[in-house]
Amino acid sequence: MSHPIHRIAICTGGGDAPGLNAVIRSVVISACNRGWECYGIHDGFNGILFPERYSEGGVYRLTREKVRGIGHLGGTILGTTNKGNPLHFPIEMPDGKVQDVDRTDEILRFFAMKQIDALVSIGGDGSLTIANALHQKGLRVVGVPKTIDNDLDKTMTTFGFDSAVAFATECIDRLHSTAESHQRVIVIEVMGRYAGWIALHSGISGSAHAILIPEIPYDLDKVAAKIHARDAEGRLYTLVVVAEGAEPVHGQRAIVAPAEIGHAERLGGVGDRVAKALSERTGKDTRVVVLGHLLRGGSPTSFDRLAAMRFGTAAVRALEEGQTGIMVALGFPGVDYVPLEEVAGRMKAVPLDCDTVQTARDLAICLGD
Ligand code: F6P
Repeated sequence: MSHPIHRIAICTGGGDAPGLNAVIRSVVISACNRGWECYGIHDGFNGILFPERYSEGGVYRLTREKVRGIGHLGGTILGTTNKGNPLHFPIEMPDGKVQDVDRTDEILRFFAMKQIDALVSIGGDGSLTIANALHQKGLRVVGVPKTIDNDLDKTMTTFGFDSAVAFATECIDRLHSTAESHQRVIVIEVMGRYAGWIALHSGISGSAHAILIPEIPYDLDKVAAKIHARDAEGRLYTLVVVAEGAEPVHGQRAIVAPAEIGHAERLGGVGDRVAKALSERTGKDTRVVVLGHLLRGGSPTSFDRLAAMRFGTAAVRALEEGQTGIMVALGFPGVDYVPLEEVAGRMKAVPLDCDTVQTARDLAICLGD
């Protein structure tokens, strides 16, 4: 039986997502209400690995006062990073080559030195894989599932996803009128990495006419046929939502930069590619709108705020109950505890037989196949 908890640390890793501050606030309030001390780590684990970068120290006390009024704010008061994964940290060697080093022992030594009993790690797949590794090395850890991409397994949804979908839907709504006025094809590129959740949910909600997702390799002749069919019916405009990770039947996905040590590949450019090809095939005036990082900004929706607060308080309850090596997950009707090892390194793609895909098909939305 491990000793009772007195002190916990919180970190946020990977891309920011609406709801991070709501999780931080709810962890701090419910931990302080149990008499625990809370510490925030700056920028993922950089606050521990590079304390000299921070004037107030890389790890600082989070009081009730520090989290007052942040529940509705986007971003993260702790800062975040999706570079420099401590499991594969890029270090430049004397010969100029970059080598991949495991720095997790430094994190464990820091926790022991500061007598911090547990970590609440708020993040996506990368952060939860690091959390799992720290748990395997003996640290008490609870993960909280964050990502606008909704690509984490074993949870009905991640917080951040609903806010991203709501904003993308509003953008699609606005693009209907301008596309129709100019009789144009407008291609809307959305984030989501290798999963099509944002594209599918916002595309259906916003009544797009075609939706291209990574799970269904696309054939642009099919999309062009949809545009021609709409033209023949007098519907002289078409909206195409494309997920950044979508790829053609014969071809590669579009990337901006390849993966390097400590950083995943950067996706982008598929919108331009699709727009150009559709313009060539249909002769129609075509435009591209890349929503990109706009999907990560702004206030969380009430759904995401509530999910964030349920996750944050459940993480504290889990630690109090002696749980470790788990992620809090949205089940029904309550929050579930799922082993981190069942989540780390796995991706939840859109299942092709799910009713949402069927909904798109029944609504005659072209999925590019
Ligand atoms: O995982 C969240 C996400 O926003 C992805 O949808 C996107 O591919 C990636 O992060 C972009 O990351 P960066 O902040 O490096 O541009």
